[in-house]
Amino acid sequence: MNEIRNFDRVADSYDQLAEPQAALARTLASWLTPAERRGRAVEFGAGTGFLTQRLVPWIGTYLATDASPAMKLVGQTRCPFNAWARRDARMPEGLGPVNWVLSCNLLQWFEDPGLALKAWREEMAPDGELAVAVLVRGTFSELLALLPEAMQVRWRSGAEWEQIVRDAGFVPNRIERWEYTSKYPCARDFLRAVHGMGLAPRRVVGPGKLRTTLGLYDEIFGVGGTVRATWRGWLARARRA
Ligand SMILES: C[S@@+](CC[C@H](N)C(=O)[O-])C[C@H]1O[C@@H](n2cnc3c(N)ncnc32)[C@H](O)[C@@H]1O
Repeated sequence: MNEIRNFDRVADSYDQLAEPQAALARTLASWLTPAERRGRAVEFGAGTGFLTQRLVPWIGTYLATDASPAMKLVGQTRCPFNAWARRDARMPEGLGPVNWVLSCNLLQWFEDPGLALKAWREEMAPDGELAVAVLVRGTFSELLALLPEAMQVRWRSGAEWEQIVRDAGFVPNRIERWEYTSKYPCARDFLRAVHGMGLAPRRVVGPGKLRTTLGLYDEIFGVGGTVRATWRGWLARARRA
């Protein structure tokens, strides 16, 4: 699993660079009132614990899981009071029945996120709830306008995600879009940061084309000594149907 190796590689730098991810996790965490933070919960793709740290203390059991040993280690150090396990989120068998399934910034990396959601649903109690956030189409629109082949991920729209969640057997009761703009001194620093977050755009062009692209990025998307990068997200809370 290439992407997990990427996250293993960046576990120590992730927190310093991943402010957009932290912002998305803060937003998702704010959707659960303190009174709701109870029962049996499992979080998938918990990483270094951006969402976990905002949801604990939790009354009941809170199991944070991640497939990357290095990310999990950093998360466990940050949030030592809940349980942690190394798990592939696509194989959640045996974790349930849980009252909550939580996940921030994971599902968009899966080839078939619907399959994972269906598997999660199987582990949920009949009245179980799902709270998820994903990055959607429009993320890195600046880079992709100049170099469409740069990212491996197939970005989906919010409408597509809603359909995937419904088809997996959930009824959404809250859905919102989210947008974040990050700023970097220059396009090269943006690309370095993206690598440092484990997102590793594909090396699809030679050094000459890359230099030209970065120059254009600086020119077109630079203002006042910085360049911008757009992040778009989609958040949902949904009940097991
Ligand atoms: C972008 S990070 C997000 C981490 C955290 N949820 C956050 O919001 O900062 C994605 C995380 O998903 C994990 N991951 C990727 N594929 C996974 C899989 N198949 N099963 C479990 N975790 C996975 C990575 O190791 C990484 O920690």
